[in-house]
Amino acid sequence: MPKNLGKTPPMGWNTWNTFTDAINEELIMQSADVMVESGLKDCGYQYVVIDDCWSLKERDKNGKLVPDPAKFPHGMKAVADYVHSRGLKFGMYSCNGTHTCAGYPASFEHEFTDAKTFAKWGVDFLKYDNCYKPDTVPGEILYKRMAMALRNCGRDILFSACNWGADGVHNWIRESGAQMYRSTGDIQDTWNSIVNLAKSQFGKQSQQGVYCWNDIDMLVVGMHGGSNSSWIGEGGMGCTDTEYKTHFSMWAIMNSPLMIGCDIRNMSDATKNILMNKDVIAVNQDPEGRGAYLLNSNGWAGVNVKILVKALENGDYAICMVNFGDHRGMGTLCFWDMGLPAASGYGFELYDCWEHEVIGRYSERYSCNIESHDCKFLRAKLVKM
Ligand code: GLA
Repeated sequence: MPKNLGKTPPMGWNTWNTFTDAINEELIMQSADVMVESGLKDCGYQYVVIDDCWSLKERDKNGKLVPDPAKFPHGMKAVADYVHSRGLKFGMYSCNGTHTCAGYPASFEHEFTDAKTFAKWGVDFLKYDNCYKPDTVPGEILYKRMAMALRNCGRDILFSACNWGADGVHNWIRESGAQMYRSTGDIQDTWNSIVNLAKSQFGKQSQQGVYCWNDIDMLVVGMHGGSNSSWIGEGGMGCTDTEYKTHFSMWAIMNSPLMIGCDIRNMSDATKNILMNKDVIAVNQDPEGRGAYLLNSNGWAGVNVKILVKALENGDYAICMVNFGDHRGMGTLCFWDMGLPAASGYGFELYDCWEHEVIGRYSERYSCNIESHDCKFLRAKLVKM
């Protein structure tokens, strides 16, 4: 049986964005239940991931990591067993330095022991951070080291490297064996943060693909300022649902892993509608994993509307037109720029992935008005006109 770890961008939920250190087994089990009952699991969300702050501040006398008994009184194996009983997969967190970013013991010089411990607990996914890394060893070596430990620990554990794009990570991460890697600093629950992270990855579509995905960081969809951390929430109300829709659309078309960061126990209908849009998820999970390129000669579009295009396995194209401006703007997609001359006699039948309907057949170009911070997400099928 092929393992297929990371064959498509991993999807799941992670504790960090909303809960930071306020985590415990009840939260994990309730969230696993919600993953199933809300329909998230049926949409492809699979991993339930505990981020930082799960252990005691010291290893035990045998050098093993110890789950904090106040947070996880039944140990991690029990949590993993519960998550597995719901048909989901279980993720955990460590770091390549002496300590995690929040100051808990991390895996530097314990890599092979910790990989075995994670395997014994039933872990299926490991997020591996970059804090307190000793200057004496390059990050590249430490990610390769943990990848080696995980790939030989006796269990299939997906390796989620998280070095925030440092050390030219895209040049060596695929070769390390990691299935995804963070290319950016931490996301915040603001439109500015979403825009900055997304734009920082435009043009980098060749730095990802099947078995090694560019992770633009976890989603803030549905948080609405609900983070336990004032830094992540910036003390504000978060974003509008329109902004979350655009955030999700960009992460999806750019093949980022889709790791939910809100409290899924309290999702609004709008949040569910975004996170469970099967048409958009299908683009993210397209089996060929081709990157989304920025249409560079969109002279018709004006400066504020950017257009991302992704070739799909069945011959269709996914197109995401984003209005980054503060006013409603016109977006124009010239088919020529995608490779289609009108003289070919072909045009596109366009399907709107948010309205879930065919909007028509067009030759040469398609134009539409897009509200500020909103997007148009299309699936284009080549048709004889
Ligand atoms: C770093 C990572 C975050 C999160 C925190 C936990 O900042 O980038 O995603 O894991 O550490 O401390």
